[in-house]
Amino acid sequence: MAELKTQLLKADEVHKAAELLAQGEVVAFPTETVYGLGANALDPQAVAKIFQAKGRPQDNPLIVHCTGVEQVEGFVKEIPEKALLLMERFWPGPLTLILPKGDAVPAVVTAGLDTVAVRVPDHPVALRLLRAVPFPIAAPSANLSGRPSPTRAEHVMHDLAGRIPAVLDGGETGFGVESTVLDCTVQPFRVLRPGGLTVEQLAELVEVSVEAPAVGTEPPRSPGMKYAHYAPEAEVFLVSGPGAAAKIQELSEGFLMKGQRVGVMTWEERAPLYPGLVVLPMGHQGDLAELASRLFHLLRQADELGLQVLFVEAVSEERLGLAIMNRLRKAAKGREIRT
Ligand code: TXA
Ligand code: MG
Repeated sequence: MAELKTQLLKADEVHKAAELLAQGEVVAFPTETVYGLGANALDPQAVAKIFQAKGRPQDNPLIVHCTGVEQVEGFVKEIPEKALLLMERFWPGPLTLILPKGDAVPAVVTAGLDTVAVRVPDHPVALRLLRAVPFPIAAPSANLSGRPSPTRAEHVMHDLAGRIPAVLDGGETGFGVESTVLDCTVQPFRVLRPGGLTVEQLAELVEVSVEAPAVGTEPPRSPGMKYAHYAPEAEVFLVSGPGAAAKIQELSEGFLMKGQRVGVMTWEERAPLYPGLVVLPMGHQGDLAELASRLFHLLRQADELGLQVLFVEAVSEERLGLAIMNRLRKAAKGREIRT
């Protein structure tokens, strides 16, 4: 791939990003969840550049970002009444709906599926960009495939500088975890990926089921869920239960003796429990929104600090905790210790 000079565009340079998109180029842009890597969703060649820049497997479909329900209507076969209810209540916002695909959406966007993922992001820069172009924007998270999703323009630059023409800098994103992916083609609607909009919020309006994590060889319904994700270089251990601190202290000794660099991701109030370890602070105890907003930055910091082992204290799986634990389990690749 030819090396590109990646421009860092300011938030008031949306027109330049729009121009690049109209020319069939890819551009990274901020949303309220994480940065996305966008291209004209109706231009298969432009969309192909997304997969190339990220090193993303071709069978992992993209989310089509739209300005609102009216635009979505042009790209889906139908919108069930209850899905419309969710759109009206939660859009713009961190909710992606899977609907029957309309003919206008190229197969490369949906990886050949007969469904399409759509959402309206709740970010002023993203909305300005979407309104500045006459097409919807296909976009996955703007990280190299397998890395934590980017929540700052510098994260995108770190992963994709030289591989894409521009990053539109909107500062830090808000939620910090990606959108909730909800399959509206099954009854009851099914959460395929927990995210920024909580299952509790959805359940106030419609009946939903939550997809159990894929086991063994059973293919997950959301193709992206089968790939390794979010993993830092360090070996991550996710530790839960009342004996977590004691377990982490005990295990870390062995790694420290071998001369390894060991870190722990913990609430600020609990940091004093871990003398001798590099602390990655999760925020004030129990503040799941704060933790979500820092999560991917902390995972990236683990690499910058050269950590070889990272212990992470598990959190409650209520509300945003479900999305957080989903990401942490992937980062831990099955290394989960219950006390
Ligand atoms: O917050 C977000 O959702 C961010 C911002 C940029 O919008 N985007 C994002 O995209 O996280 P990505 O590509 O990293 O994750 C999209 C997820 C993947 O797990 C993918 O497999 C799933 O949505 N997906 C997309 N289309 C689908 C479809 N038709 N059926 C089932 N799952 C689908
Ligand atoms: Mg992603």
